[in-house]
Amino acid sequence: MNSYFWINIIYILSAAAFIWGLKMMSHPDSARNGNLLSAVAMLLAVTATLFNQGLEFEWILIGAVIGTIIGVFWAYAVAMTQMPEMVAILNGFGGLASLLVAWSTYHFTPRSDLFTSVSTFLTVLIGGVTFTGSLIAWGKLNGVFSAKPILFNGQKWFNTGLLVLLMLAGVIYCWHPAQSYPVFLGILVLSLLLGVTSVIPIGGADMPVVISLLNSYSGLAACASGFVIMNSILIVTGTLVGASGIILTQIMCKAMNRSLSNVLFSGFSTAKKKISGTVKGEIKSVSAQDAFLVLEAARSVVIVPGYGLAVAQAQHVVRELGELLQKNGADVKYAIHPVAGRMPGHMNVLLAEANVPYEQLVEMDNINPTMDSVDVCIVVGANDTVNPAAMTDKASPIYGMPIIETFKAKTVFVIKRSMNTGFAGVENELFYYDNTRMIFGDAKDVVQKIAVEFKGL
Ligand code: TAP
Repeated sequence: MNSYFWINIIYILSAAAFIWGLKMMSHPDSARNGNLLSAVAMLLAVTATLFNQGLEFEWILIGAVIGTIIGVFWAYAVAMTQMPEMVAILNGFGGLASLLVAWSTYHFTPRSDLFTSVSTFLTVLIGGVTFTGSLIAWGKLNGVFSAKPILFNGQKWFNTGLLVLLMLAGVIYCWHPAQSYPVFLGILVLSLLLGVTSVIPIGGADMPVVISLLNSYSGLAACASGFVIMNSILIVTGTLVGASGIILTQIMCKAMNRSLSNVLFSGFSTAKKKISGTVKGEIKSVSAQDAFLVLEAARSVVIVPGYGLAVAQAQHVVRELGELLQKNGADVKYAIHPVAGRMPGHMNVLLAEANVPYEQLVEMDNINPTMDSVDVCIVVGANDTVNPAAMTDKASPIYGMPIIETFKAKTVFVIKRSMNTGFAGVENELFYYDNTRMIFGDAKDVVQKIAVEFKGL
């Protein structure tokens, strides 16, 4: 049995470990080990590839060592709130790597069969769009570029024209790859341009969805490059990334009650939008000390975290308050909305970081039926995800978005700094409900004050 046989056996084992690792990531208890398993499988697959006949891997090793040092340093240095940026740029590099694989193969070992030409074209197209699209997404998130959608007249026609041009160039290239080096370079440049022009019209706040989509593209580019160099593990991993990225994109769109085309083409921005409807009623604000008196008597408490919890970095004090409430005899749960915060799993990650037990985290669909019997809901920096207008106001931009039905609880405390709107820019009816009390202030400060009261018991 030759080395080719053994390399393929290792590839199959690695692929099985990737799939198992992905499955483990579907539960918080096993997610870390799932990640580790997938990383070890990738190391195994890369090591096996290095033993491929004729590969001079000195340069690859130097690259791997430099990449590992940068990667480890960066992963430790990055703040949790910057995670979407980091994922964006890593997706971009993934797309660029696939593009370079296809380009170097075409340049140094050209093959003119139709299958390789189509694979090369698709790799350059998807890899190019992924690279520049991800750079724009990264820049919009960290403020290098304006987060506002950049719109110009005829933008959709311009992008459609670019795509048509790319397809025509692709046909010419695939027809005569050997004589089409200039066409190939044209495809490369136009793909990079398409990445830019298709992401600039999207608002910064929609970037998490775009990043998830670009993540899927980076997988598809890797898969296509796997066909260029006929590497089965690249095809398998690329397909897994492509499929999981698109599933995550769909989940996010569904939880926001928006279609993918609405996210990509509507120019939904972070700028404040017109407030729909007129919310009537009176705002009743109380102090942390008043809230403590109600919470002291509560037997069941549901804490609803949102984006403001991440901004205030209130996860540790919230966990402390949860423990104090439990000590006082209350049943405490955390209600998790699928798009609370600004990235997938944002609340789960923050609460896990503060060591909140997983079993206390309850998904929106499971907590809502129990809401009638809850004594107190504490909304910590959440807004859109608890706005009843999503159920009642057909004119609201968030109408149809599933929410955590906090308004059904006997008392609702909303902790936020002002009457400002959330991501969707719409006023929140909940703040005017009879059973709602606002506690104005930074989430961390307010929760800390309530906790101090409990400690004085
Ligand atoms: P939001 O509706 O964005 O509201 C967050 C609230 O937090 C704001 O109203 C703000 O009010 C408050 N806040 C900010 N800093 C605070 C602080 N230091 N202390 C206390 N409160 C603070 O949050 P949400 O309910 O989590 O909803 C998420 C929104 O983002 C949804 O509309 C969702 O569709 C969208 N979105 C989510 C994702 C993902 S994947 N999670 C991706 C894209 C878009 P004040 O300024 O008055 O304090």
